Amino acid sequence: MYLEDAIIEAHAPLSGGYRVLAMKAVRIAPGVRPGQFVHLRVPGMGQSVLRRPFSVYRAEGEQLSILYKDVGQGTHTMTALRPGDRVSLIGPLGRGYPSPDEGHDPVLVAGGYGMAALYLTARRSGRRGLAFFGGATAGDILCVESFEASGWQVKVATEDGSLGRRGLVTDALDAWLAERPPGRPPEFFVCGPNAMLRAVSERAERGGWPAWISMDRHMGCGVGACLTCVQKVRGAEGEWAWARVCREGPVFASRDIVWEEDA
Ligand SMILES: Cc1cc2nc3c(=O)[nH]c(=O)nc-3n(C[C@H](O)[C@H](O)[C@H](O)COP(=O)(O)OP(=O)(O)OC[C@H]3O[C@@H](n4cnc5c(N)ncnc54)[C@H](O)[C@@H]3O)c2cc1C
Ligand code: FES
Repeated sequence: MYLEDAIIEAHAPLSGGYRVLAMKAVRIAPGVRPGQFVHLRVPGMGQSVLRRPFSVYRAEGEQLSILYKDVGQGTHTMTALRPGDRVSLIGPLGRGYPSPDEGHDPVLVAGGYGMAALYLTARRSGRRGLAFFGGATAGDILCVESFEASGWQVKVATEDGSLGRRGLVTDALDAWLAERPPGRPPEFFVCGPNAMLRAVSERAERGGWPAWISMDRHMGCGVGACLTCVQKVRGAEGEWAWARVCREGPVFASRDIVWEEDA
């Protein structure tokens, strides 16, 4: 883990209010593993304001990029960043996704920025498979070409039917599970809204398949010290315990998560 002033190299808008921010981060970028995140101090908001966590979208050599959506004060301020500006980053942080298991077929399931959070898994995995992308409308579906160029088959679902199959991403997943030819069992790698994480986890549990899910929690320190980000997980003997999403996660085995009623 390093603290570093990264230099902005490019900043490009995508559809759906998303942007890609590409940076030179000579210390952090080389060590990033799929599913890890960086904690970014938004310039111009003062030292006392909390950093914001973002999954690493791409990392190659000394460069990394994040893909983010303008949803509030911090991310809105970030939209003004220009090439040459510096941003303070801490990273790489957290435990990311494991490598896909040889005995399973890898299946990626993503909504929102999950498409970015899963890209390094898609790129670096020795195995290729299916990726399910879901969103409210066509503009929310990102990076399809990057996944296809890496050899993944992408299936899209949008709630308004403007791209791919109409409905939730789990509808598309269910249709595929129902028709799946016999063969290796699936192993799920998932990132997206909580309801989607839970829905995929339930399907994995019913089928007896492994699923790795990236939990999204509001964060304070990002390094395990403040306990802002805790999540209930199963303990050794059936009882539950707290885990820090920034440290023991953000990626957890779905079978370890204790879901709250309102998740
Ligand atoms: C491990 C991790 C990885 C993430 N990766 C990405 C990413 O790759 N791309 C991306 O766009 N976002 C990502 N996020 C979410 C991102 O951190 C928040 O969107 C960001 O902090 C919002 O900051 P803000 O100041 O703009 O919003 P605020 O003004 O703080 O909040 C605006 C709205 O967003 C909500 N919000 C704030 N933080 C979060 C959060 N962590 N999760 C859900 N809702 C939140 C608030 O409740 C509020 O409704 C990630 C979060 C985590 C924990
Ligand atoms: S954000 Fe501080 S412990 Fe996780």
